[in-house]
Amino acid sequence: KAERIERVRSLITSIEGFPKPGITFRDIFPVMRDPAVFADCMALLTEHVRDLKQPIDAVVGLDARGFIFGIVLAQQLGVSFVPIRKAGKLPGETIQVSYTLEYGSATFEVQKDALQAAQKVIIIDDLLATGGTMAAACKLIKQLECDIVECVVVIELTDLKGRDKLTDKIFSLTTYSGE
Ligand code: PRP
Repeated sequence: KAERIERVRSLITSIEGFPKPGITFRDIFPVMRDPAVFADCMALLTEHVRDLKQPIDAVVGLDARGFIFGIVLAQQLGVSFVPIRKAGKLPGETIQVSYTLEYGSATFEVQKDALQAAQKVIIIDDLLATGGTMAAACKLIKQLECDIVECVVVIELTDLKGRDKLTDKIFSLTTYSGE
């Protein structure tokens, strides 16, 4: 298992100075360019969630890269996929929450009829940095009165202490600090 995680980690590239000076961007897309490694990545995430041994009703994926991991995870678990999108993209009745990012600010939105009260959800994104995005997603899901079983990310930037901003459980497949 450690070997499979290391193979995923080895394909995550670090780009200095993107999107602005001083920031090192961790690029997850090279993982998806390799079907075997991406399949391994998804299998590891699915196994992790199965090992929680808790009923799951839905996987909530965060705009935009969280959709990719979320849809595959939901399919593998055989549960619903629900997107949380940047504001203004979803039709029908929605609820919104504003949040600040590592660079900039944004508003998140979810469709009110996407989840029912008391449903058990996993929230997934590609990366946890300052934790603002994941915290905002948790807030939205709680407004719909659902239970968050766990938050899941592929990459955690531990120096930014995003974990401290969350009151729910968080699992990261890989962690990065310094470098
Ligand atoms: C990135 C990343 C996470 C978020 C993490 O997304 O995909 O969603 O930042 O940052 P935080 O922990 O500091 O809040 P971004 O907002 O760049 O949007 P994108 O996925 O649409 O590119």
